[in-house]
Amino acid sequence: MNKTRRDFLRVSAGSTTTLALGLGVPASWVKAVQGRELWVPEPDPPSRALRLLILGGTSFLGPHQVRYALERGHSVSIFTRGRTRPRIYPELFDQVEHLTGDRDGDLDALRDRAWDAVIDNSGQRVEWARDSAGLLASSVEHYLYVSSTGVFYPYLTVGVTEELQPRLADDPPRDEPSYGVMKALSEREVQRAFGERAIIVRPNYIVGPGDTTDRFPYWPVRIARGGQVLVPGDHLDPVQFMDVRDLTEWMIRLIEERQTGVFNAGGPFPSQGTIGELVYGIRAVTTEDVEWVWIDDYDFLREERISAIVPWVMPRGNSLGHTRVNYEKAVAHGLTFRPLADTARDTLEWWYSDAVAPERRASPGFALSADREAAVIARWRGARG
Ligand SMILES: NC(=O)c1ccc[n+]([C@@H]2O[C@H](COP(=O)([O-])OP(=O)(O)OC[C@H]3O[C@@H](n4cnc5c(N)ncnc54)[C@H](OP(=O)(O)O)[C@@H]3O)[C@@H](O)[C@H]2O)c1
Repeated sequence: MNKTRRDFLRVSAGSTTTLALGLGVPASWVKAVQGRELWVPEPDPPSRALRLLILGGTSFLGPHQVRYALERGHSVSIFTRGRTRPRIYPELFDQVEHLTGDRDGDLDALRDRAWDAVIDNSGQRVEWARDSAGLLASSVEHYLYVSSTGVFYPYLTVGVTEELQPRLADDPPRDEPSYGVMKALSEREVQRAFGERAIIVRPNYIVGPGDTTDRFPYWPVRIARGGQVLVPGDHLDPVQFMDVRDLTEWMIRLIEERQTGVFNAGGPFPSQGTIGELVYGIRAVTTEDVEWVWIDDYDFLREERISAIVPWVMPRGNSLGHTRVNYEKAVAHGLTFRPLADTARDTLEWWYSDAVAPERRASPGFALSADREAAVIARWRGARG
């Protein structure tokens, strides 16, 4: 068997349906029990078909939004420079209208057009948000801006809610705003143009198939390899991340339901996740022997320059509350979570698929290389005698 492409356990729809009915699970949930999509409530169909515009659409979030929007019967236009080719669901993109331009000064393709809602994924400058929101305010009903929990940096408190006003300036000042300030100022531009019609979603780490970073893939790939696995922190250290499909599907439903306002968004569960749950959860979909090497000495980790193996971030100093943002409001507004096993398994399957370039797999930007991990473990064990 090719060890990098495993056949993972799939639960048959028939047996789980029987089980679900036996447990008195709502009928709408039973419909969702297809293959391995277990226990995710099936949403009601949308009341109307929408015309959606995605600023972006072709990298990580976009293809998942496109898939779900088409599945829900909506029509989709995307606006990009036409440089990036989607690697996830590329076959769906001939059902999508492609508008070409540049957020940096060329929005002509968006003029004299109307949509029900715009999703702004590609916002990386305050002026971009100002210009597109200003242009579209009279021809589009809702503007969903993809922000980030980065607006709360530095994360000095735990459990921040949407009530906390993000900083709108860097301290000390900078020529270009930092990522968090840029997102906060962009949110404000969208709110200025769209008022009560604005939707602001602030995700924490987004993970799953199509991830453009190698942060989260590290964990399933590493644990699937087996052997001595370094795990930083205490079992109960908080982690927050969300499957890109949970996030993007919920965004579309927010628009369908005309739910507006500001939402922090996280996962992997309706309440706080931990690093222990993360690694044991991933372990459950792999088969190699694993020996966990827990290193809970933060001073040692700092000396080894290990302050984050995302989604674990050392919960100290400016990162104290990074993975303890409050996302209860999003859950109350319909954010749902697929099982961690699905995220882990699908990330592995994607990582070893043609959607990931072999060069990326050969030289991933992982937080720890195998050599470094082994050396750190040796020093840790040496230090403890
Ligand atoms: N990853 C995380 O953990 C995380 C966490 C919190 C928030 N976020 C936010 O989530 C969003 C992720 O978006 P995504 O990249 O996945 O979105 P996407 O909609 O899948 O793709 C964005 C597309 O925008 C296009 N683009 C880039 N610059 C452009 C420009 N100047 N003019 C027009 N189009 C342009 C690119 O296509 P072309 O190259 O063809 O133009 C790119 O493929 C970002 O806003 C990020 O800040 C991410």
